[in-house]
Amino acid sequence: MPTPRSLTTAPHQNFELEVVAGTWPADIAGEVYFSSPRNVPELPYAIFGFGAMCRLSLEPGNRGAAPDRFAWQSVTIDTPSRRLFDRHPEAFSLGPTGYSSLFGPPNAANTAPLPWGDRLYATWDVGRPVELDPESLGFVAEVGHIDSWGGDSIPGMGGVLPFLLSSAHPVADPERHCLWTVKLEPAAGPGVGFQPSIVRYDRHDGTQVRYWPLEGIGFPGSVHTVSQTRNWIILCDSGNFRADVGEMMGGERTVTIDTEVPVWLVRKDDLDGLASGTPVTPICFRMSPPNGHYYARWDDTDGISVVWEGMDLMDLGLYMRPDDLDVHGQPIDPAVVGLYNMAMAPETITEVLFDPESQRVIERGSFRQDWAFNLQLSAMDWSTEGMSSPTLHHVTYQGCRPGSISARAARLYADRIDLDQLRTETPGALCSFERGTMALRSRWEYPDLGDHITSPSFAPRQSASERAVRNYAGANPGGHDGYVVQPVCNDDGFRVELFDAARVGDGPLAVLQGTQQQTVPLLLHAAWSPTMGALADAERLRFSDDLSEERMAGLSDELRASVEAVARECDQLV
Ligand SMILES: [Fe+2]
Repeated sequence: MPTPRSLTTAPHQNFELEVVAGTWPADIAGEVYFSSPRNVPELPYAIFGFGAMCRLSLEPGNRGAAPDRFAWQSVTIDTPSRRLFDRHPEAFSLGPTGYSSLFGPPNAANTAPLPWGDRLYATWDVGRPVELDPESLGFVAEVGHIDSWGGDSIPGMGGVLPFLLSSAHPVADPERHCLWTVKLEPAAGPGVGFQPSIVRYDRHDGTQVRYWPLEGIGFPGSVHTVSQTRNWIILCDSGNFRADVGEMMGGERTVTIDTEVPVWLVRKDDLDGLASGTPVTPICFRMSPPNGHYYARWDDTDGISVVWEGMDLMDLGLYMRPDDLDVHGQPIDPAVVGLYNMAMAPETITEVLFDPESQRVIERGSFRQDWAFNLQLSAMDWSTEGMSSPTLHHVTYQGCRPGSISARAARLYADRIDLDQLRTETPGALCSFERGTMALRSRWEYPDLGDHITSPSFAPRQSASERAVRNYAGANPGGHDGYVVQPVCNDDGFRVELFDAARVGDGPLAVLQGTQQQTVPLLLHAAWSPTMGALADAERLRFSDDLSEERMAGLSDELRASVEAVARECDQLV
């Protein structure tokens, strides 16, 4: 059975869900946010559509729902990029890496929600984090004047919409009250790719960011995730998304992902007081396999301990084309066209210690079994208390899907894949691993191959009094005392399954389904948050602040007038 057709055909819409099985607990609160690219049939690769922010309320009757129902909302993020697209779709063109335009590369803001206290952001890898109004989910501001980022990632490629290679997963520092993220720009010397910079956005610093290039570092990939401990920032080459210039020029993809990747650690103290733009020297490691996501324990008293979610033979640069055959030579189902080529091997999850003194990587525990295909998304207790002493790490495996692996991919990786492991589809599973050892503590299987499980999140158990103070942490933090919210995409209707985080193997405690068996489009990352209130007071960047005669140069009078009109609209929002 292919992945649900609805992933690429379902509309973004508001609807209500109701409990169809089990009992919804009273000690759950808050909301789960989901980032989701809008479906555009003409888009070759579905993950590059303009972003919508979706929100599921975990309390019945909230956000306008009937008293015994749960609200699902979906709002297209009206960034300046999107507003210009709405006015001038003819000025935008489509390619394998999404839209380009006469205004510059648009910020799709479609990959991950980032709640940060009472503020809400949407992120992606090729643009600045975008702040949203937590009530309306409308656009408010982008983070940091483009000049404070040091300009475009590749000079000349930006316009009124800047070109910034960044990270879809900035991390919020609870002690320094800042976001840490990255910027990439061409490294010095031929053939060495990009040089990363650490970028810091201070919560009370208004319209500016600061950045520090990593001295002497050049690499060919991307930095999808940023992680941290109390004292260290951890960056790595994600390794799973490699740009292929030949493909961009219309040729076949020939670039493959790496078998190991560089990792860079920088002490936060080394950046304190260091002028923006000053290079800083990282401590370097190597890790295998490449990953999409990794998460460090906040407390580093006993070492820098990191969950490394390996993505063995998961090449996110590959997507399914209409003329593709699958790995067994059969025509692919039209339902998977435009989706990513799924994993070609079972995946490894590992907990490691990075030792900056010896520059050694010490493995503490690892898990990999034949069924462990398509590890892509996970859930944990993101409160500072939970990140200090994590207990359980919850992982969604989507299962082996040979119909979503192309014959092109199999040829490209012929010397690295084991076709015997790709003969049959296998069920998805929600699993809980013990932090520190990566021992499998609990597992719940989805034998219906029409179920596409995605984007889990952890909601701490919360009493009514904790809810009143909008607390991120439960009484017993770490990831075991609370609930795992597991969305399940299925063409017969989208479901939300709720598990006791300590015992996911017991199956869902309660199941929600849309009152009309509604389906939802492709969901990328999810994040839980206490229910947010109105937009917080803060100094913010205005779109008009970024505009300059240089960035407007080359635009026709008509396009220039639209930029000025969008700037006037957006100036009202901050
Ligand atoms: Fe991600």
